[in-house]
Amino acid sequence: MNFKKIILITGGAGFIGSHVVRLFVNQYPDYRIINLDALTYAGNLENLKDVDRAPNYHFVKGDIRDAEMLDQLFQKYHFDGIIHLAAESHVDRSITDPMSFITTNIVGTVNLLNAARKLWQDHFSGKRFYHISTDEVYGSLGSEGFFTETTAYDPRSPYSASKASSDHLVRAYGHTYGLPVVLTNCSNNYGPNQFPEKLIPLAIHNIRNNKSIPVYGEGKNIRDWLYVVDHARAIDLVYHRGRNLATYNIGGHNELRNIDLIHTLCEIMDRKLNRAPGTSAKLITFVKDRLGHDLRYAIDASLIRQELGWKPGLQFKEGLEKTVDWYLNNEEWMTRITSGTYQQYYRQQYEKR
Ligand code: NAD
Ligand code: TYD
Repeated sequence: MNFKKIILITGGAGFIGSHVVRLFVNQYPDYRIINLDALTYAGNLENLKDVDRAPNYHFVKGDIRDAEMLDQLFQKYHFDGIIHLAAESHVDRSITDPMSFITTNIVGTVNLLNAARKLWQDHFSGKRFYHISTDEVYGSLGSEGFFTETTAYDPRSPYSASKASSDHLVRAYGHTYGLPVVLTNCSNNYGPNQFPEKLIPLAIHNIRNNKSIPVYGEGKNIRDWLYVVDHARAIDLVYHRGRNLATYNIGGHNELRNIDLIHTLCEIMDRKLNRAPGTSAKLITFVKDRLGHDLRYAIDASLIRQELGWKPGLQFKEGLEKTVDWYLNNEEWMTRITSGTYQQYYRQQYEKR
């Protein structure tokens, strides 16, 4: 079959990547989607079992730290576009082991930029290098204000510093070599298939199993939550219609203190598990705070709304209900993930807190 475009999606077996792969494979049968993923602890091909036989989808296991492998892959497939999501993504892990964040998030991104440059030479018409990033590069807000696309970078964790560095390098390749780049910085995602190291799936898993829910510090930190499918829709729009060299912030207009989020989640879980009201909330346990814990993230997403007409589709309550339903209906997915090395991770992170 002759495909209109061949697109590389990196990190497609992870949480957000799997939703992006699904959207592109289903929405664009005339595009060939190549998913490159190293299948680290966070990568899971089970996330894609509904699309993995599609004629326009192909999976390649590979590590973006391997520049030679990338050159060969780019020579083989002649990609028209790259949507780059592969990354080490968890702040707590970056505090324990910063180096893998440096090698994957920074060096891996530069390897991809170099491979794209080599493949496209100076023929950029119809090409696109799309880098997916986070609002955490902007640092931490006080009680007022929002991150805009012009907010100065002020990353404060090894994770956010590595993402900030990769953002700068992507823009530098755009300005210096004319590489057709575009970037987005998104707020906290939630939804099906998220690895249970992140707050929402971890709490759902613990509540389900009557284990304590670890809330860092006093639970007053604020995050802006967006349903993952809404993020995937934004990525589709920016890939096709975003301006070259532009950055778009993406957010849910949905700020919540961690403790309030957890209480809402406990209420939903009590109802779905037929527990007496207040049962799950008894599991809430305040634990030692994360080092350098950013207080508040909040996104001003007016640019992407005005330019591309994007806005979040789901209200948080509705998204959270859907998310809880997914985890409760997919217990085998969770059981497979949380057996083995996850236990060791959990002990390391939480035993001494
Ligand atoms: P994730 O940890 O669930 O998935 C990351 C994927 O990348 C995994 O499949 C993993 O196997 C793969 N990967 C890791 N190292 C690799 C390497 N060296 N080579 C190839 N593949 C590798 O992450 P996520 O939450 O889906 O985040 C995806 C992207 O979106 C990241 O770039 C992250 O910084 C960004 N982002 C995430 C959020 C969020 O709330 N989760 C918010 C904004 C931006
Ligand atoms: P997380 O899901 O790790 O995302 P991020 O750090 O990228 O925002 O954490 C979301 C918020 O929840 C953050 O303020 C840290 C807090 N948190 C807890 O209180 N307990 C936990 O066990 C985890 C994983 C996070």
